[in-house]
Amino acid sequence: MRPSPFLLALVLASTGFAIAIGAQTAPADASGVAPAPHTFPDAPGKDTVLMACAACHSPDYITDAPRNAKGWSDILDMMQAYGATATDAEWAQIKGYILGQIAQVEVNKATADDLQKLLEVDAPLAKAIVDYRTANGNFKTIDDVKKVPGLAANKVDYRKNRLEF
Ligand code: HEC
Repeated sequence: MRPSPFLLALVLASTGFAIAIGAQTAPADASGVAPAPHTFPDAPGKDTVLMACAACHSPDYITDAPRNAKGWSDILDMMQAYGATATDAEWAQIKGYILGQIAQVEVNKATADDLQKLLEVDAPLAKAIVDYRTANGNFKTIDDVKKVPGLAANKVDYRKNRLEF
């Protein structure tokens, strides 16, 4: 007997679902492979950004020009004023994705608060980065950044195209 197309579709859909869930448990930056510039890396929040931010213009607006954390915060306020709508939970996802995956990381200027979001690290590690910078002077290369105790090299490598010195 041939399997019913409906059952087959169901099995395929649930396999896809399982893969999608599995992919979410591993953070994108654990790979250490930097996504190509001007693309939307696969990470939690991507679908929300594409849904809420491509209603009025191409999503290319988001990836075309580099902006730091402050630049993005201003843009998101502006988009809200222009009429972009999302629930509070969706705005939190949009901010998390844009800062964690898209924004430029000014490693020598960013505050601990911004570094926490830009590098997706916890508060104590963000503070440790600032303390290291204060004690040792500005970071000059990506290898300098990797010297911060506790900061995983793959997290830094993943963001190498977004780091600004
Ligand atoms: C209600 C419509 C609307 C939605 C939804 C919207 N935008 Fe915009 N966006 C605009 C308008 C209008 C402009 C400015 C006009 C233009 O440059 O075409 C703009 C421009 C931009 C720019 C370029 C700004 C500049 O100064 O160069 C960026 C970046 C941007 N939007 C990001 C986003 C993001 C991120 C989201 C999702 C949170 C979003 N937009 C959702 C209407 C919208």
